Amino acid sequence: MGGPAHVPRWRELFGPLLPGMAVHHLNDPEVRPGDVRYAFVWAPTPGRLAALPNLRLILSGGAGVDGILADPQLPRHLPIVRMGGDETVQRMTEYVCMGALCLLRDMPRIIAAQHERRWDKFDPEVTARDTPVGVLGLGNLGAAAARALAGLGFPVTGWSRTAKDLPGIRCLTDLDAVLAQAAILVCLLPSTPDTRGILDRAAFAKLPRGAKVLNAARGTHVVLPDLLAALDDGHVDSAMLDVFSPEPPPPDSPVWGHKRVIVTPHTASLAHPGARARYVAEVIGAFERGEALPNLYDGSRGY
Ligand code: NDP
Ligand code: OXD
Repeated sequence: MGGPAHVPRWRELFGPLLPGMAVHHLNDPEVRPGDVRYAFVWAPTPGRLAALPNLRLILSGGAGVDGILADPQLPRHLPIVRMGGDETVQRMTEYVCMGALCLLRDMPRIIAAQHERRWDKFDPEVTARDTPVGVLGLGNLGAAAARALAGLGFPVTGWSRTAKDLPGIRCLTDLDAVLAQAAILVCLLPSTPDTRGILDRAAFAKLPRGAKVLNAARGTHVVLPDLLAALDDGHVDSAMLDVFSPEPPPPDSPVWGHKRVIVTPHTASLAHPGARARYVAEVIGAFERGEALPNLYDGSRGY
C-alpha cells in the first residue's frame, strides 16, 4: 500500500501485530516471488499478483476493489478481503453527515461569498426534517450513513440490490422511486458494470429540481459532464464530490473552479494507517486459524 517510501511506516505498524512476518513493497526486486503469502494492495501493477505462486490472500487497501479488479491477470481464484473496520465506517458516516449538512446549509454559497469578502446573509429555507435524502447503497457504509442521517432528522430512503429492512430507513429496490424524492442524493455504491455511469443525465433529470448530489463512492458512478450540465442549468443545485475518474481530475477540469461544487480529495473514509494495519492483521489471523473472513469480495455479485 503506497509507494516504497511508505514501507518503513507499514513495517513499524505491522511489526508488533504480525511478529515474524516480513513486510516488503510488492514490487521489491529483492523479494523472492515464492515467499509472498499475503498482498495488501490498492491498485497493484498488472500481472504482479499473478507472478506470486504461493500468494494465499489479497487484502484490499480500499473498501472498493476496482483497482485490484482492473488487473487483467488477477488470480481470480484467490479470496479478496475488502477494507473494513469501525474506523472506516465511522469516517464515512462523518463525511456523509458533514456533506449533507454543508449542502443543506448552502456552504458553496457561503464559501463563494467569503472568497469575495461579501457578507451574504440569507434565510435558510429548510431544515433536515424537510429534506428527504436518498442513499444509493446500503452496505457497510451506506447503512451506517443512512442511520446517522436519519438521526440528524433527515427522512432517509435507501436503495440496494436486494430488499432490506433497516429501522428508521425506507428501503427500496426501485431506483426511480428513490431519485424522484431525493432532495439530497448520496452515492455509496461499489463500482461494478451495473453501477458505472449510473448518475447520468437521465438520472439527474429524475431528481426534484434543486436537488443536491454527494458522491463518496467512485468517480465512475457520475457522468461528470452530465452533472456539470445539470448544475449549470440549475436542475441540480450543488454537489460535494470526493471521488473522480481519473483522480485527481485534470487541472483544466471545470469541476475545480465550479462555484456550486465542493471537491474533496478522496479522503471521505481514509482510516488511519494504524487502524488499517490492525484490521489487516486481524484478517490474516482469522485466515491462518481457518476462520470465516469479513468483507469478502464476491465475484458473482461484482462487489
Ligand atoms: P458494500 O459492498 O458493503 O455495500 C454495497 C451496497 O451497494 C450494498 O447495499 C449493495 O446491495 C448495493 N449495490 C451494489 N450493486 C448494486 C446495484 N446494482 N443496484 C443496487 N444496489 C447495489 O460496500 P461498502 O458500503 O463497504 O462500500 C461502498 C463503496 O464505497 C465502495 O465500493 C467504494 O467504492 C466506496 N468507498 C469510498 C471511500 C472514500 O473514501 N471515498 C472509502 C470507502 C469506500 P445489497 O445490499 O443488496 O448487496
Ligand atoms: C476506498 C477506500 O475504497 O478508501 O475508496 O476504502
